Amino acid sequence: MFIEELRAQTMQDHQQLDKLLIPYIKGCDTAAKYADLLQCFYGYFHPLELLISTYINDNIVPQYSRRRKANVITEELRSMHQNLRSTNEDVPLPRIDNVAGALGAMYVLEGSTMGGKIISKIIAGNLGRQPSDIRFFNYYRDDVDALWGQFVQTLNTFAEELDDAGKEAIISAARNTFHCFKVWIENCYLQQA
Ligand code: HEM
Repeated sequence: MFIEELRAQTMQDHQQLDKLLIPYIKGCDTAAKYADLLQCFYGYFHPLELLISTYINDNIVPQYSRRRKANVITEELRSMHQNLRSTNEDVPLPRIDNVAGALGAMYVLEGSTMGGKIISKIIAGNLGRQPSDIRFFNYYRDDVDALWGQFVQTLNTFAEELDDAGKEAIISAARNTFHCFKVWIENCYLQQA
């Protein structure tokens, strides 16, 4: 299955991202720090989702509209009485110019919901709240595994029709998506230091 190859090829990128993020996640011991983390995710997810939407719709990926997650961050910040800060900085984004590239980037965003199960528990524990109160990182709630399974199936079916160069386009977009996010997070927290 293509997913296994993609997972293997991006494993190191995922591990590096985890290593970078975990201290900031564990450090979310106040609502203000949690809001900073959400701002940081929004700054990357929002422009990336717009880019992905150029190539993906509900016919290509089932429930695509529901999978768009950036706007829930705006709602969550609002419910915390925090406004979304506008950012004038250039956000590093992966180059995406076809459906294959967009699916590679989506793999990273959809996969973040799996890590989100752990992240929401850590933050809820820190803030004395329930994981279900942590909306963005627990966005799919009980449907998280079903939505992930459906995405993986779509990705595998799409990749079956591709030659090696097409498969490589998905892998390299996914790797670049991880890489750009790391650069963005470093930048977010450098600004706050
Ligand atoms: C530090 C926080 C994170 C932790 C602890 C974490 C942990 C995990 C775990 C345990 C899985 C496997 C879930 C399973 O198979 O049941 C997973 C999957 C995944 N995560 Fe993370 N994650 C984190 C953050 C992220 C973020 C921020 C992204 C992307 C922006 C991401 C992307 C992915 C991807 C793409 C997968 C799917 C891998 C696959 O099965 O092919 N993760 N994560």
